[in-house]
Amino acid sequence: MPKLHLITYGCQMNEYDSERVAGLLRDERYELTATPQDADLILLNTCAIREKCEDKVFSRLGELKHLKRERPHVLIGVMGCMAQLWQGKIQERAPSVDLVFGSAAVSRVGELVARARATGAPVLETGEAPLVKITARPEAVGQLKAFVTVMEGCEKGCTFCVVPVTRGRERSHSPASIVAEVRELAAAGVREVTLLGQTVNAYGRDLAPATDLAALLELVDEVEGIERIRFTTSNPYNLTPRLIRAIRDVPKVVEYLHLPLQSGSDRVLARMHRGYTRARYLELIAELEETVPGIALSTDLIVGFPGEEEGDFEQTADMVERVGYDNVFVFRYSRRPGTPAATMLDQVPEEIKAQRNSRLLEVATRVGAARSRALEGRVLPILVDGVSRKNPRAGADHPGAAPQPARRARRRGCRGARAGHRRGVAAAQGGRHVSRNEGEAARPRSPVEHAHHHPA
Ligand code: SAH
Ligand code: F3S
Repeated sequence: MPKLHLITYGCQMNEYDSERVAGLLRDERYELTATPQDADLILLNTCAIREKCEDKVFSRLGELKHLKRERPHVLIGVMGCMAQLWQGKIQERAPSVDLVFGSAAVSRVGELVARARATGAPVLETGEAPLVKITARPEAVGQLKAFVTVMEGCEKGCTFCVVPVTRGRERSHSPASIVAEVRELAAAGVREVTLLGQTVNAYGRDLAPATDLAALLELVDEVEGIERIRFTTSNPYNLTPRLIRAIRDVPKVVEYLHLPLQSGSDRVLARMHRGYTRARYLELIAELEETVPGIALSTDLIVGFPGEEEGDFEQTADMVERVGYDNVFVFRYSRRPGTPAATMLDQVPEEIKAQRNSRLLEVATRVGAARSRALEGRVLPILVDGVSRKNPRAGADHPGAAPQPARRARRRGCRGARAGHRRGVAAAQGGRHVSRNEGEAARPRSPVEHAHHHPA
Protein backbone atom coordinates (compact mmCIF):
# COMPACT_ATOMS: atom_id res chain seq x y z
CA MET A 1 0.00 0.00 0.00
CA PRO A 2 1.33 3.49 -0.80
CA LYS A 3 1.95 5.71 2.22
CA LEU A 4 0.66 9.17 3.04
CA HIS A 5 2.34 11.60 5.42
CA LEU A 6 0.06 14.47 6.36
CA ILE A 7 1.30 17.65 8.04
CA THR A 8 -1.36 19.98 9.40
CA TYR A 9 -0.83 23.62 10.33
CA GLY A 10 -3.22 26.17 11.74
CA CYS A 11 -6.75 25.96 13.01
CA GLN A 12 -9.12 23.18 13.99
CA MET A 13 -10.85 23.48 10.68
CA ASN A 14 -7.64 22.41 9.01
CA GLU A 15 -7.39 19.50 11.37
CA TYR A 16 -10.89 18.51 10.34
CA ASP A 17 -10.07 18.84 6.63
CA SER A 18 -6.93 16.74 7.11
CA GLU A 19 -8.99 13.94 8.58
CA ARG A 20 -11.26 14.13 5.54
CA VAL A 21 -8.27 13.90 3.22
CA ALA A 22 -6.82 10.96 5.11
CA GLY A 23 -10.22 9.26 4.86
CA LEU A 24 -10.62 9.94 1.14
CA LEU A 25 -7.11 8.73 0.38
CA ARG A 26 -7.67 5.68 2.48
CA ASP A 27 -10.38 4.81 -0.01
CA GLU A 28 -7.62 5.11 -2.64
CA ARG A 29 -5.59 2.62 -0.59
CA TYR A 30 -3.22 5.13 0.98
CA GLU A 31 -2.13 4.28 4.47
CA LEU A 32 -0.98 6.93 6.93
CA THR A 33 2.60 7.06 8.08
CA ALA A 34 4.06 9.14 10.88
CA THR A 35 7.33 9.92 9.09
CA PRO A 36 7.99 11.64 5.78
CA GLN A 37 10.96 9.32 5.09
CA ASP A 38 8.85 6.34 4.08
CA ALA A 39 5.98 8.28 2.49
CA ASP A 40 5.01 8.15 -1.17
CA LEU A 41 2.80 11.18 -0.84
CA ILE A 42 3.38 14.13 1.51
CA LEU A 43 0.59 16.65 1.98
CA LEU A 44 0.90 19.93 3.85
CA ASN A 45 -2.39 21.42 4.99
CA THR A 46 -1.45 25.05 5.44
CA CYS A 47 -2.43 28.23 7.28
CA ALA A 48 -2.10 31.79 5.97
CA ILE A 49 -3.44 33.75 8.92
CA ARG A 50 -0.04 35.28 9.72
CA GLU A 51 3.21 35.52 7.81
CA LYS A 52 5.00 33.36 10.35
CA CYS A 53 2.67 30.47 9.52
CA GLU A 54 3.65 30.71 5.89
CA ASP A 55 7.36 30.89 6.69
CA LYS A 56 7.08 27.61 8.55
CA VAL A 57 5.55 25.91 5.53
CA PHE A 58 8.17 27.18 3.11
CA SER A 59 10.99 26.12 5.37
CA ARG A 60 9.41 22.68 5.68
CA LEU A 61 9.11 22.47 1.91
CA GLY A 62 12.82 23.31 1.75
CA GLU A 63 13.60 20.29 3.92
CA LEU A 64 11.31 18.00 1.98
CA LYS A 65 13.02 18.92 -1.28
CA HIS A 66 16.09 16.97 -0.15
CA LEU A 67 14.02 13.94 0.63
CA LYS A 68 12.64 14.06 -2.86
CA ARG A 69 16.13 13.97 -4.29
CA GLU A 70 16.67 10.57 -2.69
CA ARG A 71 13.20 9.28 -3.49
CA PRO A 72 12.15 10.99 -6.72
CA HIS A 73 8.79 9.23 -6.95
CA VAL A 74 7.53 11.02 -3.82
CA LEU A 75 4.74 13.49 -4.52
CA ILE A 76 4.48 16.68 -2.47
CA GLY A 77 1.20 18.56 -2.22
CA VAL A 78 0.12 21.82 -0.61
CA MET A 79 -3.51 22.33 0.42
CA GLY A 80 -5.43 24.71 2.66
CA CYS A 81 -5.35 28.49 2.98
CA MET A 82 -1.90 29.11 1.49
CA ALA A 83 -2.90 27.13 -1.59
CA GLN A 84 -5.95 29.33 -1.95
CA LEU A 85 -4.04 32.56 -1.35
CA TRP A 86 -0.86 31.96 -3.37
CA GLN A 87 -2.05 29.44 -5.95
CA GLY A 88 0.60 29.01 -8.71
CA LYS A 89 3.12 31.13 -6.80
CA ILE A 90 3.72 28.24 -4.41
CA GLN A 91 5.19 26.08 -7.15
CA GLU A 92 7.22 29.05 -8.40
CA ARG A 93 8.80 29.48 -5.00
CA ALA A 94 9.00 25.76 -4.18
CA PRO A 95 9.37 23.84 -7.45
CA SER A 96 9.46 20.48 -5.68
CA VAL A 97 5.72 20.85 -5.04
CA ASP A 98 3.71 18.62 -7.38
CA LEU A 99 0.19 19.61 -6.51
CA VAL A 100 -1.56 22.63 -5.04
CA PHE A 101 -5.26 22.48 -4.26
CA GLY A 102 -7.76 24.64 -2.42
CA SER A 103 -10.58 23.71 -0.05
CA ALA A 104 -13.09 23.32 -2.86
CA ALA A 105 -10.99 20.57 -4.45
CA VAL A 106 -10.53 18.48 -1.30
CA SER A 107 -13.28 16.08 -2.29
CA ARG A 108 -11.35 15.31 -5.49
CA VAL A 109 -7.99 14.73 -3.81
CA GLY A 110 -7.77 11.13 -5.05
CA GLU A 111 -8.20 12.16 -8.63
CA LEU A 112 -5.70 15.03 -8.30
CA VAL A 113 -3.03 12.79 -6.83
CA ALA A 114 -3.59 10.21 -9.56
CA ARG A 115 -3.31 12.92 -12.19
CA ALA A 116 -0.03 14.26 -10.75
CA ARG A 117 1.31 10.70 -10.62
CA ALA A 118 0.24 9.86 -14.18
CA THR A 119 1.32 13.04 -15.93
CA GLY A 120 4.33 14.03 -13.85
CA ALA A 121 3.21 17.62 -14.48
CA PRO A 122 2.32 20.14 -11.75
CA VAL A 123 -1.34 20.13 -10.75
CA LEU A 124 -3.06 23.35 -9.66
CA GLU A 125 -6.72 23.40 -8.55
CA THR A 126 -7.85 26.44 -6.64
CA GLY A 127 -11.19 27.30 -8.20
CA GLU A 128 -14.56 27.51 -6.47
CA ALA A 129 -16.93 24.57 -6.31
CA PRO A 130 -20.24 23.78 -4.63
CA LEU A 131 -20.13 22.98 -0.94
CA VAL A 132 -19.95 19.28 -0.18
CA LYS A 133 -19.99 17.54 3.16
CA ILE A 134 -17.22 14.98 3.14
CA THR A 135 -17.68 12.43 5.85
CA ALA A 136 -14.75 10.14 5.05
CA ARG A 137 -12.38 9.88 7.97
CA PRO A 138 -9.47 7.70 8.93
CA GLU A 139 -10.18 4.49 10.79
CA ALA A 140 -11.55 5.24 14.23
CA VAL A 141 -8.78 5.32 16.80
CA GLY A 142 -10.66 5.49 20.03
CA GLN A 143 -11.04 9.21 19.74
CA LEU A 144 -13.10 10.85 22.47
CA LYS A 145 -13.23 14.31 20.96
CA ALA A 146 -13.92 15.33 17.39
CA PHE A 147 -14.45 18.43 15.32
CA VAL A 148 -17.36 18.89 12.97
CA THR A 149 -17.28 21.72 10.47
CA VAL A 150 -20.76 23.22 10.31
CA MET A 151 -20.04 26.14 8.03
CA GLU A 152 -17.32 27.34 5.69
CA GLY A 153 -16.07 30.80 4.88
CA CYS A 154 -16.56 34.21 6.45
CA GLU A 155 -18.03 37.44 5.18
CA LYS A 156 -17.17 39.73 8.03
CA GLY A 157 -14.25 41.38 6.32
CA CYS A 158 -12.25 42.38 9.38
CA THR A 159 -9.57 44.57 7.85
CA PHE A 160 -6.65 42.52 9.19
CA CYS A 161 -7.95 39.09 8.22
CA VAL A 162 -7.16 36.94 5.22
CA VAL A 163 -9.87 34.34 5.89
CA PRO A 164 -12.53 35.94 3.65
CA VAL A 165 -9.95 35.69 0.83
CA THR A 166 -8.89 32.11 1.53
CA ARG A 167 -12.14 30.56 2.68
CA GLY A 168 -14.66 32.43 0.58
CA ARG A 169 -18.33 33.13 1.24
CA GLU A 170 -20.29 31.93 4.24
CA ARG A 171 -21.94 28.59 3.50
CA SER A 172 -23.68 26.46 6.10
CA HIS A 173 -24.01 22.70 5.98
CA SER A 174 -27.53 21.38 6.47
CA PRO A 175 -28.58 20.45 10.01
CA ALA A 176 -29.43 16.93 8.76
CA SER A 177 -25.91 16.32 7.40
CA ILE A 178 -24.34 17.62 10.60
CA VAL A 179 -26.53 15.50 12.86
CA ALA A 180 -25.81 12.44 10.72
CA GLU A 181 -22.09 13.05 11.09
CA VAL A 182 -22.35 13.53 14.86
CA ARG A 183 -24.35 10.27 15.11
CA GLU A 184 -21.60 8.41 13.30
CA LEU A 185 -19.01 9.92 15.60
CA ALA A 186 -20.98 8.95 18.67
CA ALA A 187 -21.30 5.40 17.35
CA ALA A 188 -17.50 5.34 16.95
CA GLY A 189 -17.06 6.29 20.61
CA VAL A 190 -16.72 10.06 20.43
CA ARG A 191 -18.07 11.82 23.54
CA GLU A 192 -17.32 15.47 22.84
CA VAL A 193 -17.90 17.36 19.60
CA THR A 194 -16.78 20.87 18.70
CA LEU A 195 -18.86 22.52 16.00
CA LEU A 196 -16.59 24.63 13.81
CA GLY A 197 -17.08 27.73 11.73
CA GLN A 198 -15.10 30.94 11.26
CA THR A 199 -18.18 32.79 12.54
CA VAL A 200 -20.01 29.80 13.89
CA ASN A 201 -22.73 31.87 15.51
CA ALA A 202 -23.76 33.15 12.07
CA TYR A 203 -24.66 29.55 11.24
CA GLY A 204 -27.76 28.89 9.18
CA ARG A 205 -28.61 32.36 7.86
CA ASP A 206 -27.83 31.25 4.32
CA LEU A 207 -29.94 28.09 4.43
CA ALA A 208 -33.48 27.73 3.16
CA PRO A 209 -35.32 27.60 5.47
CA ALA A 210 -32.97 29.70 7.56
CA THR A 211 -31.98 28.37 10.97
CA ASP A 212 -29.46 29.29 13.69
CA LEU A 213 -26.79 27.86 15.92
CA ALA A 214 -29.11 27.61 18.93
CA ALA A 215 -31.44 25.34 16.95
CA LEU A 216 -28.49 23.26 15.76
CA LEU A 217 -27.23 22.83 19.32
CA GLU A 218 -30.60 21.46 20.33
CA LEU A 219 -30.49 18.91 17.53
CA VAL A 220 -26.96 17.80 18.34
CA ASP A 221 -27.92 17.60 22.00
CA GLU A 222 -30.34 14.80 21.15
CA VAL A 223 -27.62 12.55 19.77
CA GLU A 224 -27.18 9.66 22.12
CA GLY A 225 -23.64 9.00 23.30
CA ILE A 226 -22.47 12.59 22.96
CA GLU A 227 -21.84 14.13 26.36
CA ARG A 228 -20.40 17.53 25.61
CA ILE A 229 -20.87 20.04 22.85
CA ARG A 230 -18.64 23.02 22.14
CA PHE A 231 -18.63 25.47 19.29
CA THR A 232 -16.12 27.95 17.98
CA THR A 233 -15.46 30.69 16.87
CA SER A 234 -18.18 33.09 17.88
CA ASN A 235 -18.18 36.67 16.74
CA PRO A 236 -19.45 39.28 19.22
CA TYR A 237 -21.38 40.95 16.42
CA ASN A 238 -23.59 37.89 15.93
CA LEU A 239 -23.98 36.89 19.59
CA THR A 240 -27.71 36.74 20.22
CA PRO A 241 -29.66 36.43 23.50
CA ARG A 242 -31.07 33.22 22.02
CA LEU A 243 -27.61 31.67 21.75
CA ILE A 244 -26.67 32.83 25.23
CA ARG A 245 -29.79 31.13 26.58
CA ALA A 246 -28.91 27.99 24.62
CA ILE A 247 -25.57 27.81 26.44
CA ARG A 248 -27.55 27.77 29.66
CA ASP A 249 -30.44 25.59 28.59
CA VAL A 250 -29.12 22.98 26.21
CA PRO A 251 -27.85 20.35 28.66
CA LYS A 252 -24.78 19.08 26.82
CA VAL A 253 -23.47 22.47 25.77
CA VAL A 254 -20.35 23.29 27.75
CA GLU A 255 -20.53 26.57 29.67
CA TYR A 256 -17.62 28.11 27.90
CA LEU A 257 -17.32 30.73 25.20
CA HIS A 258 -14.39 31.84 23.08
CA LEU A 259 -15.28 35.39 22.13
CA PRO A 260 -12.53 37.21 20.21
CA LEU A 261 -12.24 40.84 21.27
CA GLN A 262 -9.16 41.72 19.15
CA SER A 263 -8.78 45.17 20.73
CA GLY A 264 -10.11 47.09 23.69
CA SER A 265 -9.94 50.45 21.92
CA ASP A 266 -12.96 51.76 20.05
CA ARG A 267 -10.77 53.60 17.61
CA VAL A 268 -8.89 50.41 16.71
CA LEU A 269 -12.05 48.29 16.67
CA ALA A 270 -13.58 50.68 14.15
CA ARG A 271 -10.51 50.51 11.93
CA MET A 272 -10.63 46.72 12.21
CA HIS A 273 -14.31 46.79 11.08
CA ARG A 274 -15.30 44.54 13.93
CA GLY A 275 -18.81 45.95 14.18
CA TYR A 276 -18.93 46.43 17.98
CA THR A 277 -17.55 48.79 20.56
CA ARG A 278 -15.88 48.17 23.87
CA ALA A 279 -19.09 49.07 25.68
CA ARG A 280 -21.15 46.68 23.56
CA TYR A 281 -18.69 43.86 24.21
CA LEU A 282 -18.87 44.50 27.96
CA GLU A 283 -22.66 44.42 27.73
CA LEU A 284 -22.46 41.01 26.11
CA ILE A 285 -20.11 39.76 28.83
CA ALA A 286 -22.51 41.02 31.50
CA GLU A 287 -25.39 39.25 29.80
CA LEU A 288 -23.36 36.04 29.52
CA GLU A 289 -22.34 36.10 33.16
CA GLU A 290 -25.83 36.85 34.32
CA THR A 291 -27.43 34.12 32.22
CA VAL A 292 -24.71 31.51 32.68
CA PRO A 293 -23.08 32.15 36.07
CA GLY A 294 -19.47 31.00 36.20
CA ILE A 295 -19.16 30.73 32.42
CA ALA A 296 -15.55 30.25 31.29
CA LEU A 297 -14.34 32.84 28.80
CA SER A 298 -11.41 33.11 26.44
CA THR A 299 -10.46 35.55 23.73
CA ASP A 300 -8.09 36.54 20.91
CA LEU A 301 -6.24 39.84 21.00
CA ILE A 302 -4.09 41.52 18.38
CA VAL A 303 -1.28 43.85 19.37
CA GLY A 304 0.28 46.35 16.98
CA PHE A 305 -2.62 46.78 14.59
CA PRO A 306 -1.79 49.77 12.33
CA GLY A 307 -2.20 53.02 14.22
CA GLU A 308 -2.40 51.34 17.65
CA GLU A 309 -1.02 53.79 20.17
CA GLU A 310 0.05 53.26 23.74
CA GLY A 311 -3.36 54.45 24.97
CA ASP A 312 -5.20 51.99 22.70
CA PHE A 313 -3.02 49.17 23.91
CA GLU A 314 -3.70 50.08 27.53
CA GLN A 315 -7.42 49.86 26.83
CA THR A 316 -6.91 46.31 25.57
CA ALA A 317 -5.00 45.37 28.72
CA ASP A 318 -7.76 46.99 30.75
CA MET A 319 -10.38 44.81 29.06
CA VAL A 320 -8.46 41.68 30.06
CA GLU A 321 -8.72 42.82 33.68
CA ARG A 322 -12.36 43.80 33.44
CA VAL A 323 -13.59 40.67 31.72
CA GLY A 324 -11.31 38.34 33.67
CA TYR A 325 -10.65 35.82 30.92
CA ASP A 326 -9.70 32.27 31.78
CA ASN A 327 -7.51 32.12 28.71
CA VAL A 328 -6.15 34.67 26.25
CA PHE A 329 -4.43 34.23 22.89
CA VAL A 330 -2.26 37.16 21.87
CA PHE A 331 -1.21 37.74 18.27
CA ARG A 332 1.19 40.32 16.88
CA TYR A 333 -0.43 41.99 13.93
CA SER A 334 0.85 40.54 10.65
CA ARG A 335 0.30 42.23 7.26
CA ARG A 336 -1.69 39.96 4.99
CA PRO A 337 -1.79 40.46 1.23
CA GLY A 338 -5.11 41.62 -0.14
CA THR A 339 -6.41 42.90 3.22
CA PRO A 340 -7.22 46.58 3.83
CA ALA A 341 -5.02 46.91 6.92
CA ALA A 342 -1.93 45.77 5.01
CA THR A 343 -1.80 49.06 3.14
CA MET A 344 -2.58 51.32 6.09
CA LEU A 345 0.23 53.79 6.45
CA ASP A 346 0.74 53.79 10.19
CA GLN A 347 2.21 50.30 10.64
CA VAL A 348 3.60 49.61 14.12
CA PRO A 349 7.29 48.65 14.44
CA GLU A 350 8.03 45.02 15.33
CA GLU A 351 9.84 45.94 18.58
CA ILE A 352 6.74 47.66 19.87
CA LYS A 353 4.56 44.71 18.91
CA ALA A 354 6.93 42.37 20.75
CA GLN A 355 6.93 44.55 23.82
CA ARG A 356 3.13 44.90 23.91
CA ASN A 357 2.82 41.18 23.30
CA SER A 358 4.76 40.32 26.43
CA ARG A 359 3.11 43.02 28.53
CA LEU A 360 -0.31 41.75 27.55
CA LEU A 361 0.65 38.16 28.27
CA GLU A 362 1.75 39.16 31.74
CA VAL A 363 -1.62 40.70 32.49
CA ALA A 364 -3.48 37.76 30.97
CA THR A 365 -1.41 35.22 32.90
CA ARG A 366 -2.10 36.97 36.17
CA VAL A 367 -5.83 37.25 35.45
CA GLY A 368 -6.04 33.61 34.32
CA ALA A 369 -4.22 32.43 37.42
CA ALA A 370 -6.71 34.24 39.63
CA ARG A 371 -9.57 32.50 37.80
CA SER A 372 -7.84 29.16 38.37
CA ARG A 373 -7.34 29.85 42.04
CA ALA A 374 -11.03 30.53 42.37
CA LEU A 375 -11.56 26.85 41.53
CA GLU A 376 -9.28 25.59 44.27
CA GLY A 377 -10.89 23.05 46.51
CA ARG A 378 -13.65 22.16 44.11
CA VAL A 379 -14.15 18.64 42.79
CA LEU A 380 -14.75 18.63 39.08
CA PRO A 381 -15.42 15.93 36.50
CA ILE A 382 -12.78 15.69 33.79
CA LEU A 383 -12.57 14.07 30.40
CA VAL A 384 -9.19 12.36 30.05
CA ASP A 385 -8.58 12.25 26.34
CA GLY A 386 -4.96 11.29 25.85
CA VAL A 387 -1.36 11.68 26.82
CA SER A 388 0.21 15.08 27.28
CA ARG A 389 2.19 16.15 24.21
CA LYS A 390 4.40 18.45 26.17
CA ASN A 391 4.93 16.13 29.08
CA PRO A 392 4.27 12.60 27.85
CA ARG A 393 5.40 11.11 31.14
CA ALA A 394 2.60 12.79 33.03
CA GLY A 395 0.13 10.06 33.76
CA ALA A 396 2.46 7.47 32.20
CA ASP A 397 1.88 5.13 35.10
CA HIS A 398 -1.78 5.01 34.35
CA PRO A 399 -2.64 1.64 32.84
CA GLY A 400 -4.70 3.26 30.11
CA ALA A 401 -1.93 5.60 29.05
CA ALA A 402 -0.75 4.84 25.55
CA PRO A 403 1.28 6.93 23.16
CA GLN A 404 -0.67 9.00 20.63
CA PRO A 405 -1.34 6.80 17.64
CA ALA A 406 0.93 7.76 14.77
CA ARG A 407 -1.96 8.13 12.39
CA ARG A 408 -3.46 10.97 14.33
CA ALA A 409 -1.17 13.45 12.71
CA ARG A 410 -0.94 16.39 15.00
CA ARG A 411 -1.33 19.96 14.11
CA ARG A 412 1.79 22.10 13.82
CA GLY A 413 2.02 25.27 15.74
CA CYS A 414 1.06 28.48 14.21
CA ARG A 415 -0.53 29.97 17.22
CA GLY A 416 -0.53 33.14 19.12
CA ALA A 417 1.17 33.24 22.42
CA ARG A 418 -1.21 31.99 25.03
CA ALA A 419 -1.51 33.16 28.54
CA GLY A 420 -3.51 31.71 31.33
CA HIS A 421 -3.30 28.16 32.49
CA ARG A 422 -4.35 25.00 30.80
CA ARG A 423 -6.29 23.32 33.43
CA GLY A 424 -6.80 19.64 33.57
CA VAL A 425 -10.24 20.29 34.88
CA ALA A 426 -13.75 20.77 33.77
CA ALA A 427 -16.11 22.23 36.25
CA ALA A 428 -19.54 20.85 36.81
CA GLN A 429 -22.26 23.25 37.68
CA GLY A 430 -25.75 22.15 38.39
CA GLY A 431 -24.79 18.73 37.10
CA ARG A 432 -23.64 20.10 33.80
CA HIS A 433 -20.14 20.21 32.42
CA VAL A 434 -18.27 23.44 32.30
CA SER A 435 -15.07 22.90 30.55
CA ARG A 436 -12.12 24.89 31.60
CA ASN A 437 -9.93 24.15 28.65
CA GLU A 438 -8.82 20.79 29.74
CA GLY A 439 -5.64 20.15 27.93
CA GLU A 440 -2.26 18.71 27.88
CA ALA A 441 0.24 21.34 28.82
CA ALA A 442 1.34 22.15 32.26
CA ARG A 443 1.90 25.74 33.22
CA PRO A 444 3.27 27.50 30.17
CA ARG A 445 6.47 29.45 30.35
CA SER A 446 5.49 32.92 29.46
CA PRO A 447 5.73 34.30 26.84
CA VAL A 448 5.71 31.15 24.75
CA GLU A 449 4.48 30.22 21.32
CA HIS A 450 1.93 27.52 21.72
CA ALA A 451 1.25 24.84 19.27
CA HIS A 452 -2.15 23.68 20.16
CA HIS A 453 -5.81 24.20 20.26
CA HIS A 454 -6.37 27.72 19.42
CA PRO A 455 -9.99 27.86 18.37
CA ALA A 456 -10.69 28.02 14.68
N1 SAH B 1 -13.04 33.47 12.98
C1 SAH B 1 -12.29 34.04 14.01
C2 SAH B 1 -10.89 34.42 13.61
C3 SAH B 1 -10.05 33.39 12.96
S1 SAH B 1 -8.37 33.81 12.89
C4 SAH B 1 -13.02 35.27 14.56
O1 SAH B 1 -14.15 35.49 14.27
O2 SAH B 1 -12.42 36.03 15.31
C5 SAH B 1 -7.85 33.54 14.58
C6 SAH B 1 -7.25 34.74 15.20
O3 SAH B 1 -6.07 35.12 14.52
C7 SAH B 1 -8.11 35.99 15.12
O4 SAH B 1 -9.09 36.01 16.09
C8 SAH B 1 -7.11 37.09 15.30
O5 SAH B 1 -6.91 37.41 16.65
C9 SAH B 1 -5.83 36.48 14.73
N2 SAH B 1 -5.50 37.09 13.46
C10 SAH B 1 -6.20 37.06 12.31
N3 SAH B 1 -5.57 37.77 11.35
C11 SAH B 1 -4.43 38.27 11.92
C12 SAH B 1 -3.37 39.08 11.45
N4 SAH B 1 -3.36 39.55 10.21
N5 SAH B 1 -2.37 39.37 12.29
C13 SAH B 1 -2.39 38.91 13.57
N6 SAH B 1 -3.37 38.15 14.07
C14 SAH B 1 -4.39 37.83 13.25
FE1 F3S C 1 -11.45 36.83 10.03
FE2 F3S C 1 -13.07 38.56 11.10
FE3 F3S C 1 -14.03 36.51 9.75
S1 F3S C 1 -11.27 37.71 12.05
S2 F3S C 1 -12.52 34.92 10.02
S3 F3S C 1 -12.86 38.16 8.92
S4 F3S C 1 -14.85 37.39 11.62
